[in-house]
Amino acid sequence: MIDSQVIEEIKSRNDIVDVISSYVVLKRAGSNMQGLCPFHSEKSPSFTVFTGTQGYYCFGCGAGGDVITFVRQVENLDYVSSLEFLAKRAGVTIPEDKGRREKSGFDRNRMFEMNRDAARFFRESLFNEQIGGEALSYLKRRGLDAATVKRFGIGYSPNDFSALTKHMRALGYSEEELIAGFLCGRSQKYGTLFDYFRNRVMFPIIDVSGNVIAFGGRVMDDSQPKYLNSSDTPVFKKSRNLFALNFARVACSEELILCEGYMDVIALHAAGFTNAVATLGTAITPEQARIMSRYTKKVLISYDSDAAGQKAANRAIGILGEVGLDVRVLKIKDAKDPDEYIKKFGADSFSNDILAASRGKFEYNMDSVLARHNILIPDEKIKACNELCAMISDIYSSAEREVYISAVSDKLGIPKDSIRADINRILKKKKNDFKKQESQKIIRQSAGFGDRVNPDYAKNIAAAKAEESVLGMLLLYPEHRKSVLEGKCELNEKDFFTEFGKRVFTSLIATAQNGNFETGLLGEFFTPEEQGRIMRMQLSRSQLSDNGADAFNESIRALKRETAFSDSEDSVDNILDIIKNKRNNT
Ligand code: UTP
Ligand code: MN
Repeated sequence: MIDSQVIEEIKSRNDIVDVISSYVVLKRAGSNMQGLCPFHSEKSPSFTVFTGTQGYYCFGCGAGGDVITFVRQVENLDYVSSLEFLAKRAGVTIPEDKGRREKSGFDRNRMFEMNRDAARFFRESLFNEQIGGEALSYLKRRGLDAATVKRFGIGYSPNDFSALTKHMRALGYSEEELIAGFLCGRSQKYGTLFDYFRNRVMFPIIDVSGNVIAFGGRVMDDSQPKYLNSSDTPVFKKSRNLFALNFARVACSEELILCEGYMDVIALHAAGFTNAVATLGTAITPEQARIMSRYTKKVLISYDSDAAGQKAANRAIGILGEVGLDVRVLKIKDAKDPDEYIKKFGADSFSNDILAASRGKFEYNMDSVLARHNILIPDEKIKACNELCAMISDIYSSAEREVYISAVSDKLGIPKDSIRADINRILKKKKNDFKKQESQKIIRQSAGFGDRVNPDYAKNIAAAKAEESVLGMLLLYPEHRKSVLEGKCELNEKDFFTEFGKRVFTSLIATAQNGNFETGLLGEFFTPEEQGRIMRMQLSRSQLSDNGADAFNESIRALKRETAFSDSEDSVDNILDIIKNKRNNT
């Protein structure tokens, strides 16, 4: 555990506005700051940073907490790692504590080192003529020169079940570490370790800070799977990383080229397009899209020309658009992927014939609609027109809609006015549907259904609300905490109704007992999502003017009343008791 004074120090040196500003554009709103929430997609800002209390809360999705929670959420780190991240950012040293490391399970830096050692081993194997000769000639056959092989740190995993294991054990890495890092597996039959990657060309995956975080390995023949990729490890999440972003980040201020495969990216970089990246054996995720939006404004999708690639491009258009990126699609003609294209036609042609002919989302979709329908047949023409109108109605800007209305009118030979009228009808219906959905959502939410953080909420809303008032006041005011700690008011875990409420209460009291309490200190015990809820309890209470001792005691009474009523459902005697009590109370 890290000392609370050190945590204080780290927090005080990392102003929340500074930290969040490097991820979100914040604008002043009264005494606070506002921006578009980085944790869900939105068009108008509901993400608020409270400069006074150094907290944040999104009124749209309920994310919230302090600067540590923010880093946990946005960088996807655990509690201790996000403290280390912030400590590093502010130049604070965290005193070494052996127990801490064991608690969080592993040491990130050691894992990076382990991966680096493995990458070095693969590289040496590649350049060892006897071991890696065949792999090296495979790479040459695929057109990679020595400089590219070096730049990408490409290597070779020997055709041996224990080559890497032996090497790494000799360097002092434990079996657990090797397994956790997805370098080795344990044989069920013999109980011994074996190398995961064998007889494959190895591509290290490197994060933007230059750490080796994972590997992809390709076979050199037709065997399956063609690529083997590291699974998620403590330092690697497939869904949050992009191949070659470590290089592309310095060349992508204008645009990024997004490919499907390792080899596409490598071929593009070798041909001078150093702004190319690829996902890692998966379809693009919203997290990856958000990461891209931090480095660039525009993404050129350059997927394979087959049907699967086009389908994937469709999905990617949606996901990249959601985070506000300007998305364009490349059409790879007469080759199956960018790698093959460059080999066949060269870098200049890629630039002049492919990049220059990039299409925006609408043009791309229009082309595919027109390819599916023969517009010389009236029925088909109507279908095509309806699909295109539906697409235009999804566009937010009316000026943009006008541009596409013209384009469709030209292509189909239908007057603009009729197309516009159709679109307006769709827009009107959408608006009504949206209103209906929103009001249903509000009804569901206020009834507490589908509450993932606190699934007990809906079981007794009155009790859960009373509980949140009590907790909100405890979180906000030292005097209320003091009166509980000193036993001046009777309140204990049992009085709380939901499991979540009980947990908040016990960890709050335990933390307060150790001295200076501060909501952020609860981060150690709760997920960022849960901390968002804790933040909400605090906020909704702080908006009320009366939070004094009387209000506190009244909330406790209400809580006890409601909880007792809930507990007793199965016992007739209890119910009689409660009715009696209720009478006495009122
Ligand atoms: P492709 O099959 O298009 O491979 O898969 P590629 O990149 O063009 O590779 P070459 O040119 O045949 O060497 C695209 C991407 O999908 C993932 C890899 O990330 C690959 O780069 N993939 C593919 C896997 O993860 N596993 C597989 O078995 C196949
Ligand atoms: Mn390929």
